[in-house]
Amino acid sequence: MGSTIALENIAKAYNGTPVIAGLDVTFADGEFIAILGPSGCGKSTLLNMIAGLERVSSGRILIGGEAVQDKAPKDRGCAMVFQNYALYPHMTVRDNIGYALKVAGVAKPERERRVAEAARVVELGDYLDRRPAALSGGQRQRVAIARAIVREPKVLLFDEPLSNLDAKLRHGMRMELSQLHRRIGATSIFVTHDQVEAMTLADRVMLLKDGQIAQFDTPQALYHRPASTFVAEFIGAPPMNLLSVSGDGRTLRLADGTAIADHPHQGPVTLGIRPEKIVTGGGRLKARVLYREDMGSHASLVVALENGQRLEIASPFGASITDADEICLHLPTDHLHLFDPQSGLRI
Ligand SMILES: Nc1ncnc2c1ncn2[C@@H]1O[C@H](COP(=O)(O)OP(=O)(O)OP(=O)(O)O)[C@@H](O)[C@H]1O
Ligand SMILES: [Mg+2]
Repeated sequence: MGSTIALENIAKAYNGTPVIAGLDVTFADGEFIAILGPSGCGKSTLLNMIAGLERVSSGRILIGGEAVQDKAPKDRGCAMVFQNYALYPHMTVRDNIGYALKVAGVAKPERERRVAEAARVVELGDYLDRRPAALSGGQRQRVAIARAIVREPKVLLFDEPLSNLDAKLRHGMRMELSQLHRRIGATSIFVTHDQVEAMTLADRVMLLKDGQIAQFDTPQALYHRPASTFVAEFIGAPPMNLLSVSGDGRTLRLADGTAIADHPHQGPVTLGIRPEKIVTGGGRLKARVLYREDMGSHASLVVALENGQRLEIASPFGASITDADEICLHLPTDHLHLFDPQSGLRI
């Protein structure tokens, strides 16, 4: 059973207002899970309940098969890394990493061995005598991670640990976290509102909306088979294009009659297509280019159809972008996503 984490119908309400509504999920031993979702959807609340920093209103939390929802945080075998990872400024890196062990009364030789090992894992072995003020943001973040792993936790919990770092450092830290997870193998839960972090780090991504699971699956499944328009728009940058269309069994058309794509659907439907799946040139759908962005390696276009409907188009890496003002588009049937116009759920 190792360090599986099972959430059994857990719910949380603050003063009668539900924040998390009856979640039922299991994370496998050693799995890397990302909890993703917009601000206020309940990510931190969920993580804090697992850590024991918040009580559940109802339900059970099992870690390695043992019910822990009534246990103190220190008895759950979890270690947590926060966004604001306040290090002790007057202590060296060595003392910051070893502090929790010292408080727990771990003998000095054992403490030194574990601090050296944790520092080695996060590649800070040469920095043990420095104070936090003499470290970069990324190095400080690694001290915070070392401080968590030095306790040899079964479960590692991260709440937006990279959001204070600049874009380049974040990229480097993503790679380091991924390698770290492979080395230590602790079941890890990583809260973020950054889809790139979630998609690149996690084995599975739990996308939350208003305290409920919008979709919980592999990053590929979220991208290629979004369960709803919410998921379709949340995952992907630029997001999936969504159009209100109606089908006659052969062709999907906009309200003004413009034929958008071939598809056997009948009746009104919300049509989705990823920006990189729209084919430019050779199609019958006329569009006017409103805006273009060329990033060198790839490019994107914002275009308007004749009735004013806008679409975003992304060119694949390496492909050059047209400089024409009028283009013709084709929306391949194989790459269309259909959603119920009322519920937004995938059809
Ligand atoms: N102690 C509290 N008392 C009352 N309401 C709270 C409390 N803590 C959180 N909430 C509410 O619960 C909801 C979820 O909060 P939570 O902090 O879990 O969101 P989040 O997904 O982590 O958001 P963010 O991305 O902004 O960190 C929010 O509406 C928040 O206002
Ligand atoms: Mg939060």
